Amino acid sequence: MSTAKILITRKWPESVEAELMKHYDVTRNTDDVALSVEELRAALGEYDAILPTVTDNMGAAVFQTDHIRTQAICNYGVGFSHIDISAAQAAGITVTNTPDVLSECTADIAMTLMLMVARRAGEGEREVRAGQWSGWRPTHMIGTKASNKKVGIVGFGRIGQEFARRAYFGFNCEIFVQNRSQVAQDKLDQFGATQLDDLKALFQICDVVSLHCPGGDANRHLINADILAQAKPGLILVNTARGEVVDEVALAQALQTGTLGGAGLDVFDGEPNIKPETREAPNMVMLPHLGSATAETRVEMGMRVVENLNAIMAGTAPRDPVC
Ligand code: DGY
Repeated sequence: MSTAKILITRKWPESVEAELMKHYDVTRNTDDVALSVEELRAALGEYDAILPTVTDNMGAAVFQTDHIRTQAICNYGVGFSHIDISAAQAAGITVTNTPDVLSECTADIAMTLMLMVARRAGEGEREVRAGQWSGWRPTHMIGTKASNKKVGIVGFGRIGQEFARRAYFGFNCEIFVQNRSQVAQDKLDQFGATQLDDLKALFQICDVVSLHCPGGDANRHLINADILAQAKPGLILVNTARGEVVDEVALAQALQTGTLGGAGLDVFDGEPNIKPETREAPNMVMLPHLGSATAETRVEMGMRVVENLNAIMAGTAPRDPVC
């Protein structure tokens, strides 16, 4: 066993924790409560590697310490907007993430939200549970057909492409893409997709827009009142990316006024706290950040962290470097 000291910041699947414990001196978080900024800062002085996740706020303040022992931050998750990458880099720390392994499951949750909003599944379930369903009738809880729609995808990375696959092959939707760089034509052709440069145009054309871009400062409130004002009547917005990408106050307003047909959110700005405006907005389905939450994927994410960690500890290049 290596004497390297490793901190796992939250409770992980047992098989992955066991694998880590075979090779390293591991500290686990058996209480499964998110660490504070002070605890994370102290950890930088104590551990060779920290294995954090989205609930660990590793902003600039965490790196404001003179005593840093940590060489590696191997994130459990693909998104890393909770880590100040420049500060980590300045401290000489290698950061990695876990792409690929969660793309299908996250796209599944985006599709779940699209269908739930279009077919009013959240409302329907609540009605049945409350004992308020009075029976089938031709005008009861009428939603919107999900097939054959125009679907916009913001961010055409691996998760965006998996969502396109589901919408195109499963629901015969026409795919439009907005991405910060030009997407290779053969990638677009796989889904008969058209790339648009203009986000407003995407909102004007599409019946559904699903967000799959990174979070962080660069994309904070990318979807704001100006963009939402362009929405085609009835448009459904789906966010499984990061909460900060959407201005939720503007979103709630657009739902209240009927500018937007509906929204499905798996991620929230400041989660797990939900803004009252968001909670009270009509035609909204909310899930508790379930994108990657399947037994298979959570183990694969962990094993990908182990692979990255092993490489760094062996002095070789990790598979998924962020910096
Ligand atoms: C991811 O992998 O980014 C998930 O959202 C959890 O962090």
